[in-house]
Amino acid sequence: MSGSLQSRVLRGPAATLAGNPFEQPSRGCLITHDDALIIIEDGRIAAFGPYAELNDTLPEGVAVEHYPGHLLVPGFIDAHVHYPQMQVIGAFGTQLLEWLETYTFPAEMSFADAGHAGRVAHLFLRELLRAGTTTAMVYCTMHPQSVDAFFTEAARFDARMIAGKVLMDRHAPAGLLDTAQRGYDESLALIERWHGRGRALYCVTPRFAPTSTDAQLDAAGALLKTRDGLFLQTHLCENLAEIEWVRDLFPARASYLDVYAHAGLVGPRSMFGHGIHLHEGDFCTCHQAGAALAHCPTSNLFLGSGLFRLFEAVDPRRPVKVALGTDVGGGTSLSQLQTLNEAYKVAAMVGHKLDAVQGFYLATLGGARALGLEDRIGRLAPGMEADICVLDPKATPLMAFRAGYCASMEELLFLLMTLGDDRAVRATYVAGRPVYDRDRSGDPFRPAHGEEQP
Ligand code: GUN
Ligand code: ZN
Repeated sequence: MSGSLQSRVLRGPAATLAGNPFEQPSRGCLITHDDALIIIEDGRIAAFGPYAELNDTLPEGVAVEHYPGHLLVPGFIDAHVHYPQMQVIGAFGTQLLEWLETYTFPAEMSFADAGHAGRVAHLFLRELLRAGTTTAMVYCTMHPQSVDAFFTEAARFDARMIAGKVLMDRHAPAGLLDTAQRGYDESLALIERWHGRGRALYCVTPRFAPTSTDAQLDAAGALLKTRDGLFLQTHLCENLAEIEWVRDLFPARASYLDVYAHAGLVGPRSMFGHGIHLHEGDFCTCHQAGAALAHCPTSNLFLGSGLFRLFEAVDPRRPVKVALGTDVGGGTSLSQLQTLNEAYKVAAMVGHKLDAVQGFYLATLGGARALGLEDRIGRLAPGMEADICVLDPKATPLMAFRAGYCASMEELLFLLMTLGDDRAVRATYVAGRPVYDRDRSGDPFRPAHGEEQP
């Protein structure tokens, strides 16, 4: 192998998804190696396989970073999260619409201050990495500077992040409103500044139907056509009062989803948050359009929104792509392990069992497929961007004790998704670089670029 490339080698037990466990038996969808090597060159995985097979091919002079007793998995993907809501995570006592008025909108007002946005983005990126999350689809606020702050921070770590300015032209405090034209112009400027710069990708972000006029939703549809590879994110059928409100605001539309479809917002790069109260016809529309849903169980429980019918959504007869979202600050954790813990319980409440392979699929390859990024992220395989999470199944005394009773990789994965949280993330690699090391003394974070970048 060429010595001029930036090489790095990780060794340890490893697990990655290779198929969809909602469509095939789970067992056959998981690739595991008790002792694996991941050879990384210039930020991508050059080789992945058993140590015994790859040991002879190691680049000369490269130290092997060895994680015995750990588990190398693809970096987690969080398909729905609001970074400006870090300051209202875990706020007491309300359901969605009151929660927005009482906590969320006031918090988002503070992002008029670019310094505040920068400080929160700094914390948020580090919290993602501490949770092993290497890609997130992120709502900023309506302030363009909130998007600049987020992508600037993401660029320091070279992280594959998707984000956009929230569009709202009604039903929010005056300080948070734009207009259809201003929202379009500001979004377009941000697209030109950020989309495709390094690993940044832009997402057109109308908050949800009640806070946008028809004119603004149409403008969002027009924005999507301005560049290749743009994403769309919004909320859909999260809460019964919200759905009632949408019915009143858009009486001519057949359904909540139809409001978005009418504006050209339902397509293969669209990510709809929640989708709890969808009907069969909506699932069919999403399937046909290739649109995806973000399952946000900690938020749906915390805000009392309802129980997402995951297994109905992914029904192989007309599967809808589903990813996992934390939805912080409605959600209560940035950890995809904790989110899976709640996803398991929500599935159980509606008569299904989410097995560990299905859970890890949602958090990795399934998320990548839902975003249309499966050619770059979500798996340990040659050619993939080297975003890797090193899990520690013995992170706490209880986990160490319980791990002693795990007889298979599936059991160990299930232990991680029920008892695991940020403590179980030993290290995080982004584009092949070790950007977070739980056990490093001093600052555990090591951005790829210094504070002066980009
Ligand atoms: N619907 C509209 N805005 C929001 C938000 O910020 N969080 C959640 N959970 N739902 C929303
Ligand atoms: Zn949300």
